[in-house]
Amino acid sequence: MAVVAEKHKTAYDLIAEGAEIKPKATYRSFDESTAEDWAAIITHNQEVPDSSVLELCLDHLERLKSPQPASPVDRYEHSLQTTSRAWRDGHDGDGQYIAAALLHDIGDFFAPHNHGEFCASVLKPYVRPEIYWLVKHHELGQGYHFFHHLGADRNAREKVRAHPYAELCFDFCDKYDQTAFDPDYDTMPLDAFMPSLQRVFERPLRETEPQDD
Ligand SMILES: [Fe+2]
Ligand SMILES: [Fe+2]
Repeated sequence: MAVVAEKHKTAYDLIAEGAEIKPKATYRSFDESTAEDWAAIITHNQEVPDSSVLELCLDHLERLKSPQPASPVDRYEHSLQTTSRAWRDGHDGDGQYIAAALLHDIGDFFAPHNHGEFCASVLKPYVRPEIYWLVKHHELGQGYHFFHHLGADRNAREKVRAHPYAELCFDFCDKYDQTAFDPDYDTMPLDAFMPSLQRVFERPLRETEPQDD
């Protein structure tokens, strides 16, 4: 009689069949880990909603209120103003564009030289690829409007112009991001955008496996 090898059970198999899940993984290295260990971790992680990611994002947004005496408006006002302009231009949709507009500068403290990448990485599991790309490259797109005052090439963004998502990114920069420094603008409150944010961060759109861009 042919011997059929038993399929190796994964952590997901154990959870699906209602196996008893241990309270804590006990490996000392990943090489030692078992499906039972990973079932414990996955089960616990399911109890931590992704809304906690939104709370962290809102914490970072709050930090943008730090004084910038030389700037026309602080970065918090800039973020809300960018979002207000996009909202009033009809970009509510499924909330992803609004989430991008509101959070696009949250990395300014941790990654002042590549804050677009910072925010894009946070948003990546929750948004469509074009929204991810928009946020990641907005510093380059935005540069058209001021790089020449700093001795840099304002047309540096042309090197990515051929990318299928470039127009969406440049449109965001031209219409909403670079124009959002007006101290007299009628900026909308954060509460107006919370339903959009909650929709976006409700659950990831895709698995967070390492991906190339
Ligand atoms: Fe920015
Ligand atoms: Fe900005």
